[in-house]
Amino acid sequence: MSDSRIGFGLLGTGLIAPFHAKALNASDVAELVAASDAVPDRLAAFAAEFGCQSYATLDSMLADPRIQVINVLTPNHLHFDGVMKAVAAGKHVLIEKPPAMSLREMIQMDAASWKAGVKAGVVLQCRTRKSIQAMRDAIREGRFGKLLHADMYMKWFRSAEYYRMDVWRGQRRSGSGVTIAQAFHYLDLLQYLAGPVKRVEARMKNLAHPGVELEDTLLAFTEFENGAQGVVQASTALWPGTDIRIEVNGENGTAVMSGDRMETWKFRDERPEDEQIRRYGTAGLSTGATGAADLGFKEHQVLIEDMVNAIRSGGEPFIPLASVLPTLEWALAMYQSAKDNTPVELPVDEDRVWY
Ligand SMILES: NC(=O)c1ccc[n+]([C@@H]2O[C@H](COP(=O)([O-])OP(=O)(O)OC[C@H]3O[C@@H](n4cnc5c(N)ncnc54)[C@H](O)[C@@H]3O)[C@@H](O)[C@H]2O)c1
Repeated sequence: MSDSRIGFGLLGTGLIAPFHAKALNASDVAELVAASDAVPDRLAAFAAEFGCQSYATLDSMLADPRIQVINVLTPNHLHFDGVMKAVAAGKHVLIEKPPAMSLREMIQMDAASWKAGVKAGVVLQCRTRKSIQAMRDAIREGRFGKLLHADMYMKWFRSAEYYRMDVWRGQRRSGSGVTIAQAFHYLDLLQYLAGPVKRVEARMKNLAHPGVELEDTLLAFTEFENGAQGVVQASTALWPGTDIRIEVNGENGTAVMSGDRMETWKFRDERPEDEQIRRYGTAGLSTGATGAADLGFKEHQVLIEDMVNAIRSGGEPFIPLASVLPTLEWALAMYQSAKDNTPVELPVDEDRVWY
């Protein structure tokens, strides 16, 4: 390993791990050193394919001094254990979404990382999209005027085989369900743009996956603290799956992102840079609508290189763990609302879980 690169170790070599590996192998500032997985054959195949060392246990990987960052890529209910061990060993962590199963777990993970003096970032790569950054800047600059609506539509498809691939994918208690798994990315975008959330009313159903015990469809109505309201529609039941949409409307402007493309960008105070912003995004970028592996790795690379930058500069990662607390809290409030069939006001209890 060259001295100038920061070494990474991957905990978990399942579906998302190749995207991390490709991102690391494409980077000039980060390097894939090793991986660990509970399934030996899967680990061996992964290490051979991506040319890294394999460790049978997390403890042995943590003892490798070449590794400064652990990317936590295990099923959702196992993130907490992996993160707590990694930070106790003095490693920085980049945690796949959702970072934890309860607010308390997240708060403990965050406190442990600060105590250990290491960085804790979350892989919510959609925040890096130029369209989202433009919307956020415009909201902060007041270009929308009073914010009126912030909506998200995720009409996706996941097959029955997807839910059968691994036991945890079909279990709420392992961190599955469209709200906490797939939609978490886009709930995060809405709260990043328009949050914090004040109140939510949600309905959840299993429309098309009778073989599993979780919701494949979410409908929610949200009131934000700033007075805006929002509709969330998220599903993995809608074949063949179409691009997600984020829509923001204010008294002076409207912005719509479809996939990662800025589909509508219109303000009463048109500015010279608006013409360029309307061209943001990539026609045909795969963003996960039709299958879990229907993704690119470039956005992961941005977050990996951002972690390197945070380590080198001493600053915070682009998506610090604590910044995701409001997203998890909103998702938890949705589950509570759907279960009790009543609107829920935030905050929710730190120990609340959704299963
Ligand atoms: N950012 C994204 O767009 C995106 C996309 C897909 C998945 N994810 C997230 O990535 C994480 C992993 O999802 P996945 O689809 O790759 O799951 P997966 O089941 O395909 O892979 C998880 C791997 O972890 C291994 N594992 C389980 N317990 C372990 C342990 N104690 N020690 C070591 N390894 C262990 C499993 O053997 C498996 O290989 C989840 O948090 C998921 O939400 C993120």
